[in-house]
Amino acid sequence: MSRLVFLGPPGVGKGTQAAGLAQDLGIPHISTGAILRDALERETPTGLEAKKFMDAGELVPDSVVLQLVRDRLAEEDARSGWLLDGYPRNLQQGEALQSLLQEIGDSLDHVIYFECAESELVRRLSGRRTCKTCGSTFHIEFAPVPEQGQCDAGGECEIYQRSDDVEEAILNRLEVYHRETGPLVDHYRSKDQLVVLDGAAPIDEVGVALRSALN
Ligand code: AP5
Repeated sequence: MSRLVFLGPPGVGKGTQAAGLAQDLGIPHISTGAILRDALERETPTGLEAKKFMDAGELVPDSVVLQLVRDRLAEEDARSGWLLDGYPRNLQQGEALQSLLQEIGDSLDHVIYFECAESELVRRLSGRRTCKTCGSTFHIEFAPVPEQGQCDAGGECEIYQRSDDVEEAILNRLEVYHRETGPLVDHYRSKDQLVVLDGAAPIDEVGVALRSALN
C-alpha cells in the first residue's frame, strides 16, 4: 500500500509525475487543484466560492479543502492507498491531515518534495496547456500539445490555458508558495520525512528518480 504526498512549487511537475505514478501503483491521484477546477466547471457552491482565490493564485480556505480531501479519502478506491498532489499546502493543512489520518486509522508513507529554480517554473507555467476532457497537461516546448481528437480519455481534446497560468497569478502563486508551503517543507524536513528530488531534470529522468526513491 502507498500513501504519498507530493510537495513542491507550482509548475515543478507534481501533476505530471503523479498521473503516471498513481497509474503504475494502482492508486488514485488526488489533486486538490483538479477537484476544485472540476467543481468550478460544474458551478457547484464550492467551485464558485473557490474561483476568486484560484484566479488570483491565493489558497482556497483550509476548511473548504479539508472537506474535499476528507470526502475523497473516504471513497472505496482510496482504501488501497492514495497520492495527494497539492495537499497539504501549509502547516495548518499538515496538522489537519495528520488528525484526519489518525481518525481514519491511516498513515503517511512518504512526502516527496520536488525542487526547481523559479525562472524555470515561470517558463513551465506560462507554456502549460491543459485538456479539459481528461485533465492531462502539456507544454508548448517540453510536452507536445496533441491535435484535436487525441484525448487520453478517448474523447475530443479540448485544450485550454488555465486562468491562473498568466503572469500576475503565476508570480502571486510563487509568493504564496514561499510564504505558506515553505514552512511545511521545513517541518517535514525537520522530521526527516522528506524525499527530495530534482524537479528541474527532464520529465523521464524525474520519473526514473521518483521510482527509484520509492523502491
Ligand atoms: P494546483 O492545481 O495544485 O496548482 P499548483 O500547485 O500551482 O501546481 P501546478 O498544477 O501549477 O503545477 P504542477 O507541479 O502540478 O506542474 P505540472 O505537472 O502541471 O492548485 C491550483 C489552485 O487551486 C491553487 O493556486 C489554489 O488556489 C487552489 N488549491 C489547490 N490545492 C489547494 C490547497 N491544498 N489549499 C488551498 N488551495 C488549494 O507541470 C507544469 C508544466 O511543466 C506542464 O506544462 C508540464 O508539461 C511541464 N513539465 C512538467 N515537468 C517537466 C519537466 N521535468 N521538464 C519540463 N517540463 C515539465
